[in-house]
Amino acid sequence: MVRYNFPEYKLELDIPAEVYFPAEDTFFLINNLNLNENIRLVYEIGGGSGIISIVLAKNFEKTRFIVSDISSTATKMIRSNCKLNRLNSQIDVICMDKLNAMRYLSPEVIIWNPPYLPEDSETQKHPITDKLMITGGKRGFEEIFDLIISLQCSKANTSLYTIFSSIAWDEDNFEEITEKGVRFEIIKELKLFFEKLYLVRIDFGDYNG
Ligand SMILES: C[S@@+](CC[C@H](N)C(=O)[O-])C[C@H]1O[C@@H](n2cnc3c(N)ncnc32)[C@H](O)[C@@H]1O
Repeated sequence: MVRYNFPEYKLELDIPAEVYFPAEDTFFLINNLNLNENIRLVYEIGGGSGIISIVLAKNFEKTRFIVSDISSTATKMIRSNCKLNRLNSQIDVICMDKLNAMRYLSPEVIIWNPPYLPEDSETQKHPITDKLMITGGKRGFEEIFDLIISLQCSKANTSLYTIFSSIAWDEDNFEEITEKGVRFEIIKELKLFFEKLYLVRIDFGDYNG
């Protein structure tokens, strides 16, 4: 395990090889989330190293965070990185599939930088832990669609911030989301060498954070 310094965010994180190393998508999300300081509770799914909630918790001292990851190694790292950055009283960590272990969904904001690439013959060869970090199903967005449907069914009053990639997604899929009766907005686009990333906000219920 190696300790890495992220001077832009004034923090250090321990990140083992089995945990997603913060990349362009991570920084794109952190730098373009437009949260307000009155937000009481944020859930982050798939925290990886914990970087997104750790940076946000440093900036929003009154906000509480609950961070999940399906990987037990990532969950342990998020917990220890929270301690390393003295934020363990502001951030709780749970190992679970998306938000499936939560009985009531009451956060104003949910964040997930999800695995968003489609499975193909190449990714099939990856170990399961790597696949969980990068592939979101055969079309690439089944995992995030599952979450959208469960939030819609639970009548949660919340805003979900997430990322889609042009490798997996095109404008027809926008309609697949709006057909589910939620409000949808592209907040920002990031053009990379081989793909475009979209940071989107999806509003459920009345919430518009
Ligand atoms: C692209 S990585 C993002 C990690 C970190 N948030 C970041 O931006 O650097 C996706 C994360 O989602 C986690 N993950 C994948 N499927 C999940 C699921 N069903 N429930 C919770 N976490 C999941 C992976 O283990 C991985 O840590």
